[in-house]
Amino acid sequence: MSQTDSEANRAIPITDPYEFDLSLLADPQNTYPTFAFLHSAGKQVATRGGIHVVCGYELANQLLRDRKYLSGPIADLYRQSLPPGAARDELAHRINFLDPPDHPRVQRLIMRAFTSRRVGEMRPWVEAQTEACLNGLEEQFASARAPIDIRAEFAHKIPSLVISEMLGVPVEDRDTLTEWTEAVTPLLSWQIDPESLKRGLDAAEMFAAYAADLVDKRRKTPGDDLLTAMLHAEDGEDTLTREELLSLIVTLYSAGHRTTRDLFTNGLFTLLQNPDDYAAIVAEPALVCSAVREFLRFETPTLYVVRIPAAEVVLDGARIAPNTPVVVLLAAANRDPDIFTEPHRFDIRRDEASSLSFAVGPHRCLGAALAQMEAEVMLAAVTRRWPDLALAGDQPRWWSTGPFRGLTHLGVKPS
Ligand code: HEM
Repeated sequence: MSQTDSEANRAIPITDPYEFDLSLLADPQNTYPTFAFLHSAGKQVATRGGIHVVCGYELANQLLRDRKYLSGPIADLYRQSLPPGAARDELAHRINFLDPPDHPRVQRLIMRAFTSRRVGEMRPWVEAQTEACLNGLEEQFASARAPIDIRAEFAHKIPSLVISEMLGVPVEDRDTLTEWTEAVTPLLSWQIDPESLKRGLDAAEMFAAYAADLVDKRRKTPGDDLLTAMLHAEDGEDTLTREELLSLIVTLYSAGHRTTRDLFTNGLFTLLQNPDDYAAIVAEPALVCSAVREFLRFETPTLYVVRIPAAEVVLDGARIAPNTPVVVLLAAANRDPDIFTEPHRFDIRRDEASSLSFAVGPHRCLGAALAQMEAEVMLAAVTRRWPDLALAGDQPRWWSTGPFRGLTHLGVKPS
């Protein structure tokens, strides 16, 4: 049995699936053992806490495409629970939490920037930035001979550079925006402590003011970037409201770099724990694409999404009452034993169903092609340059905030 198999079998604090609660996922050690336990009990469960949880791949796939399950009521929850201000405006207008007719209108206005063709055109530029970043790290390692935190120095930098360029965010502002993003993210958690709430609300104010300023500047001096395109977007009658525009800037900045950073870091950590797989990619670089797909399946940065039906629905025989939050555990679906052979085994040659990490249906991730391209470019460059890369320094720790999961840092040494 591999190391990861035994991890999935670790004991968890519940003995009955009806006790499942999202707070269990706040301890990242519980994540996959909990999912394995839920799978042993079925494909869905109505918990005592009043949420409906879906862990089966087919059910999740079906539900996410079904228009009866809405996202808009989540925006309503933020409208009710947050004080008036930037955070409430942002979350209540976030594209993820819109339903028709607003959702397709907002989606149409930006999806052209993220097509496979546009993403393909960006690839050479991303490759050049990646090589430049690795040159710097190589020099750093040659002089200091100390482990490199590849999460901070590389996995964060490349996606952050890409989305900043797309939105026209100046280099000198990027660290501040990253700090605000980190502070705002816990607002997406099911439960939040008062200190994190205050930090999130304050950061949201600063981020919204910054986004408004960016919009004003771009209106006066249009650039060749996504923000200018969003300002000029005209698709028949469609335009964005000011709240939608500001919310999109914050969402794209955040979604554009955090998840890609964590996809790469989580995946590389897993790969370096399986050195034979790392060596296989060095020997056969074409494996990069299937390795990134396996990163997505095995250690996705987005554990779940939520939907809320407005009327009673029946899901594979189970009745779900109106307004019940339905938690779709994407990361659990990715390890459904009915779909994936030995689901707790990391296998870079796996050729089975696509993971659900980008979701499916109307809210499928708009940045999926971009994130995949970035991760492929980054993995190809690292394996090509450092064939003997190994873990080094302090052991990284897993963290989990709301639907997100990642590592604190990732120390490596190139040789
Ligand atoms: C590994 C990287 C990524 C993962 C795992 C990921 C995952 C997801 C998931 C699961 C959703 C669905 C949310 C829901 O249904 O509530 C989503 C939506 C979205 N993602 Fe990503 N994402 C990633 C990267 C990106 C990037 C790079 C961007 C943009 C630059 C992006 C932009 C968006 C947007 C705008 C939505 C909302 C789509 C909609 O509601 O129509 N994501 N993402």
